[in-house]
Amino acid sequence: MTKIKDIIEEEIKDAFEKAGFDRNAGVVTVSNRPDLCDYQSNGSMRLAKQVGKSPLDIAGAVASVLGDSATFEKAEAVKPGFLNLTVRSSFLGEYLRNMALDPDCGARKASHKDTIIVDYGGPNVAKPLHVGHLRSAVIGEAVKRMGRFCGHEVIGDVHMGDWGLQMGLIIEECRDRGIDPVYFDESFDGVYPNEAPFTAQELEEIYPAASARSKEDENFHERALKATAELQGGRRGYNALLKHILDVSVTDMKKNYERLNVSFDLWLGESDAQKYVPDMISRFEKEGYAYESDGALVIDVAKESDSKEIPPCIVRKSDGASLYATTDLATLVQRMKDYSPDRVFYVVDKRQEMHFTQVFRAAYKTGVVKPDTTLYFLGFGTMNGKDGKPFKTREGGVMKLSNLIDMIDEAMLEKMIVNQKERGEKTDIGELKKTARVVSLAALKYGDLSNQASKNYVFDIDRFTSFE
Ligand code: ARG
Repeated sequence: MTKIKDIIEEEIKDAFEKAGFDRNAGVVTVSNRPDLCDYQSNGSMRLAKQVGKSPLDIAGAVASVLGDSATFEKAEAVKPGFLNLTVRSSFLGEYLRNMALDPDCGARKASHKDTIIVDYGGPNVAKPLHVGHLRSAVIGEAVKRMGRFCGHEVIGDVHMGDWGLQMGLIIEECRDRGIDPVYFDESFDGVYPNEAPFTAQELEEIYPAASARSKEDENFHERALKATAELQGGRRGYNALLKHILDVSVTDMKKNYERLNVSFDLWLGESDAQKYVPDMISRFEKEGYAYESDGALVIDVAKESDSKEIPPCIVRKSDGASLYATTDLATLVQRMKDYSPDRVFYVVDKRQEMHFTQVFRAAYKTGVVKPDTTLYFLGFGTMNGKDGKPFKTREGGVMKLSNLIDMIDEAMLEKMIVNQKERGEKTDIGELKKTARVVSLAALKYGDLSNQASKNYVFDIDRFTSFE
């Protein structure tokens, strides 16, 4: 089906023409004052000079042509020359009816089948999933399903964070806790144990402890940095530990995503891109894209047209370690080689926008992707508590995703029990629990997706569980 906006735009262009103006001026956008109207056209502003009339007069002339339109309840010229448009309920009703009758619910199938990678989820190994990862999972899953529905080849990649300082911190914490010394023995050249030296619960405790320690203990922090660089440099014992950390935490992550009905085609992480790093970096150097600055290796990505400063993209730290940008660039090398995608979507917290600006520019500049490969940053806002700050536990800590889901499940169940009692029906708790789980997941997703992705929203359990 033709999009509502396109139908409206066609009618407004006709109206500009009927009123004696250039039809191309009749561009329509969604209103940026939804309290005043649904759509708007600012075409009169552009025409004013050209035709020697005031924008308000032009908008007025167009509005009067629209007087008997079946689409608009109101078409109003307002100062200094906007055309404010409010659509009729009958028009929307008709459109919805047609959507319901259409086997594809009104979606237009793609005319060209693109290969699209959706990079979402982005959990960090050894740290429990928190509410910050919820939006990425929910929005990314929706993007993936919509792309498939339209006929594209869509690949979802969880892109775990498993290559940064958190790994060095865990390694050093394990050393101090005296777990199997074989992982730290550089002369060991045998086979490492199959069994992980820690459980998921232990791991969940090891990381925060190490992280807290590194903030107070400078020496420990230094050791973690060194371990990170050595891990990335290929030290066997550390890589064997990493494998255990991955195995243990991926099992746990999968459980969480399953509860959200979110699934990934690829369970790759930052560490999987490491094998592409050395060649990529030496090419950057050889072809003159990267240069040394204060011991680090950087790529300039600023443009003259920039209105704010875009710092150079750092691709190697002075201690030789990879950074977030390094793994993201190497992951693109890997994706181009394996899938040659037409588009890559990144569904990540919008506070990371600068990072992606740098990475995208570096990727185009160095030819890591083709000029016509679309890299798209889908930055989302924060899920806040009622106080307007990022959602926390009652004690002020980071809320685990699994606890959040439990919370909604329980609130939903309670509400359903009350409702049944009010209706005087008999309560079958087992059945209710099952239903509550389905409904609360839908509510959680709807509560998120009904907001514009880029905006922050307030997590309000009463509103989320409201049946109205
Ligand atoms: N692990 C990151 C985080 O928790 C998100 C990863 C996003 N994806 C990416 N390709 N950088 O912030």
